[in-house]
Amino acid sequence: MTKRVYYQELGLANTREMFQKAINGGYAIPAYNFNNLEQLQAIVTACVETASPVIVQVSKGARSYANETMLRYMAMGAVKMAREMGSQIPIALHLDHGDSFELCQACIESGFSSVMIDGSHLSYDDNVALTRKVVEYAHDHDVTVEGELGVLAGIEDEVQADHSTYTKPEEVEDFVSRTGVDSLAISIGTSHGAYKFKVGPGEEPPPLRFDILHAIEQRIPGFPIVLHGSSSVVPEYVELINLYGGKMDGAVGVSEEQLRKAAASSVCKVNIDSDGRLAVTAKVREYLAQNPAEFDPRKYLGAARSELVRLIKHKNEMVLGSAGQA
Ligand code: G3H
Ligand code: 13P
Ligand code: ZN
Repeated sequence: MTKRVYYQELGLANTREMFQKAINGGYAIPAYNFNNLEQLQAIVTACVETASPVIVQVSKGARSYANETMLRYMAMGAVKMAREMGSQIPIALHLDHGDSFELCQACIESGFSSVMIDGSHLSYDDNVALTRKVVEYAHDHDVTVEGELGVLAGIEDEVQADHSTYTKPEEVEDFVSRTGVDSLAISIGTSHGAYKFKVGPGEEPPPLRFDILHAIEQRIPGFPIVLHGSSSVVPEYVELINLYGGKMDGAVGVSEEQLRKAAASSVCKVNIDSDGRLAVTAKVREYLAQNPAEFDPRKYLGAARSELVRLIKHKNEMVLGSAGQA
């Protein structure tokens, strides 16, 4: 068995203080997914250059893609890189959508400072029981835990209808007090991926269900809320992808205006994965199409990395309000 390593030894931070400051300050902490070197370099560079606290997050799939040991050293490298750039920004390493106690435990024992246990697909009681079990173990190691209530709507769901998969405000108080979670992911109309809403030509996507968010805030005032599925699906990237041989028809995300409104509320963690994927894919496609003889991955991945830095700085500065808060 590999040696257990806890996040404190890697220079990482848990999310407790980050979230308190974000709620008091009316902004949100960005949570960017990564699987590879260039993504992590871009996240660190952009967050240092904008003095933003940051959560770098890894899904179960990303963890097996990158390798557990490699991830630990990447996280350590991310902290070192930030410090060598003269920055003290807090960096949390978070498990995104953990689906079992064992996975959460393994991540905690390999250096994660925060974990999500996603029991949103289980019955309410089973969700409470699983989340409680993870919280007890995590808190013994001062690791923070995100739970989830309500299932994110899929593209096939009628997100405008009063859908049973939205978080039920009447459940949140009981869930938070019985599980002891540090933050709660909710479902108010976002979904994962690049196809969040079905909209006709010239139509705007439906607004998020801020009425549900407000009802939740009234029941658990000041409690940290997490918004998944928060990519804007930047139209310029979709256009570039389609221009250079891709096919992404009807890709639509959450508008920046909606995200700004959410970030000013008790939403204090905003999850972004798809926009990073789109930026990389758009720039790699563009670079290779414009430089057909090039075969050095540093060239096209370097172009993608530069674009990611630009995208993340924009989000921190213009959307989430986290710039200057570290
Ligand atoms: O919420 C899901 C994230 O976008 C991660 O996706 O499981 O394909 O790594 P993944
Ligand atoms: P997006 O697919 O909108 O980027 O959402 C990512 C996410 O919620 C990761 O947990
Ligand atoms: Zn998610």
